[in-house]
Amino acid sequence: MKVTCGIDIIEISRIKESIEKSGEAFLDRVFTKSEIKYCESKKKQKYQHYAARFAAKEAAFKALSWKIDDKYSVCWKDFEVVNDEQGRPKLKIVSIDLGDIEDIDISISHCKEYAVANVTIITK
Ligand SMILES: CC(C)(COP(=O)(O)OP(=O)(O)OC[C@H]1O[C@@H](n2cnc3c(N)ncnc32)[C@H](O)[C@@H]1OP(=O)(O)O)[C@@H](O)C(=O)NCCC(=O)NCCS
Repeated sequence: MKVTCGIDIIEISRIKESIEKSGEAFLDRVFTKSEIKYCESKKKQKYQHYAARFAAKEAAFKALSWKIDDKYSVCWKDFEVVNDEQGRPKLKIVSIDLGDIEDIDISISHCKEYAVANVTIITK
């Protein structure tokens, strides 16, 4: 068993600028439909939620970087954050099979200026 973790912090203004500049193209490249639906439901606060998901994908990449070599190439939408009824986030790996992953845990936080995410991956 191997446990790896990744962390990322991002300025919310960076994500806001990308969305304002490239709009749908940026959203569609980085976020899944369900992530977009979740963030848009947050109205004025949406940039914090988008930034948090961006950080989560970067953190997941860091946690998996030892595994992602020539054999696998990943893109933003291979990672998806979903929230349960209590608001608890989960990270799903979609549309790519990274093999023997046993468990994934994620924690997210955001304030006015920054969003952070931490991802822990357990591999058999
Ligand atoms: C859920 C809670 C922890 C969120 O904290 P917050 O400071 O309001 O907000 P943060 O920006 O730090 O975190 C927001 C993220 O927390 C995550 N989150 C929400 N509910 C959660 C839960 N029940 N468990 C774990 N993570 C949760 C989400 O990922 C959310 O971001 P998202 O909506 O973009 O996915 C907080 O609202 C809460 O309920 N606190 C109760 C604390 C308490 O009872 N303390 C007693 C002593 S321990």
